[in-house]
Amino acid sequence: MITVENERPAGAAPVVEDKASNAPVYVRNLDAVFARGLQSRVWDSAGNDYIDLLADGGALALGHNHPDVMRRVAAFLSSGQILPGLDTPTPARRALVEQLMRALPPSFAQDAGIQFCGLTASDAVEAVRRLFKAATGRHSLIAFHGACHGLRPGSLSHGGEMHFFPYPQGHRCSFGVGGYRGEDLALTYLDNALGDPRNGIAKPAAVLVEAVQADGCIAASARWLRQLREITRKHEVPLVLDEMQTGFGRTGSMFAHEDAGIVPDAILLSKALGGGFPLAALAYHKRFDKWARGRAHPAVLGGSQIALVAGAATLEHIREGNIPARAQRLGSYLQERLRTFAGSVPCFGEIRGKGLMVGIEIVGPTSSEPPEKRPLDGTLAKAIQQACLRHGLILECGGPQAAVLRFLPALTIAESEIDLAMARLGHAVLSCLAAPEQRRSVQETQA
Ligand SMILES: Cc1ncc(COP(=O)(O)O)c(C=O)c1O
Repeated sequence: MITVENERPAGAAPVVEDKASNAPVYVRNLDAVFARGLQSRVWDSAGNDYIDLLADGGALALGHNHPDVMRRVAAFLSSGQILPGLDTPTPARRALVEQLMRALPPSFAQDAGIQFCGLTASDAVEAVRRLFKAATGRHSLIAFHGACHGLRPGSLSHGGEMHFFPYPQGHRCSFGVGGYRGEDLALTYLDNALGDPRNGIAKPAAVLVEAVQADGCIAASARWLRQLREITRKHEVPLVLDEMQTGFGRTGSMFAHEDAGIVPDAILLSKALGGGFPLAALAYHKRFDKWARGRAHPAVLGGSQIALVAGAATLEHIREGNIPARAQRLGSYLQERLRTFAGSVPCFGEIRGKGLMVGIEIVGPTSSEPPEKRPLDGTLAKAIQQACLRHGLILECGGPQAAVLRFLPALTIAESEIDLAMARLGHAVLSCLAAPEQRRSVQETQA
């Protein structure tokens, strides 16, 4: 039986709140001034400690201020090497490309070219659009419902046509059937659309897919990914794997698509790639490189040297420390702990994910149906997320109706930290269920 412990005072951040535009997400959801961090622990300016299960949206693969990364960055800053390097070869760039080639699946790496694109996912999506537009002469892209390829679907449609197709979603299947049947329907629908230009969708420059959808922590099966690869090959449409969040060990293998044994035409990379500093890159099969030499995709700040140094240190640590296997083991442990807890609360629906990319659907606690059939409850999810913060736990909501609590801790998180996080989650959930007025206040804020 978990008892509700006292909540800590929120380290409110009036200056940040007052001056922030309405646009940012985290400044509104994480109401504290986070002053220090060490791997999976963070302290706010009032000295309260937090377990960080968000890790900068998964970007901090090794957590805050990992000593291996910080040592390399500090050495670089005092080395006299140039800071901005345009896209010229520098020691930092060489080191990261070398580490990247060792991390990428050999079947892909042997023919791969790399384009450092800029800072964010949107830069890499823009690069992929330009690459495949030059290679195929086509303009549009296809992605899947629930996808996260750079801010929101609106940003994806910037600068070109974008079409969305159903993604296999288990018990919340777009076709209402789930299982293999739901997977097959999603594929048939796409196959038919690609096969006949008279259906209103011109053949796209590429299909973008996540092997595990980051926003809702929904994993596509290896079977579905293999068939998607076959269909895209049959229609001569390049297949792009967005591994910005899943890449470099998070899902228990170096890249999430590897389990399916497929070879994509391009891979989008970011987050762990820059070791916590902003960096996005596009890796692609060289046969598609029809870019006009030196003019097609300039990026003055594409590949900040600090991000390249931090990224190389991170990738080396992940490979040499066998971190993907660790993520697999600790992810199973986390899911096991969540499933045990789920039995004692009425608001946990499906618990899912791969490796250390785990999500829980928050569902309405009062309906008489089994949890996986209940309607999603984004308001309760948000109330739980905010209560977690008050109890010393940083996590985020995402996915359908923002009703999925997402766990994306550093891949170095310790089992004891997961235990502590589970205790804090327990207190937070019980405080929300015991005090429906907290939910109401979230509803009022959202209105
Ligand atoms: C798979 C994936 N692609 C793209 C993005 C967006 O990245 P950015 O914030 O750099 O635009 C995210 C963010 O979480 C993501 O998970």
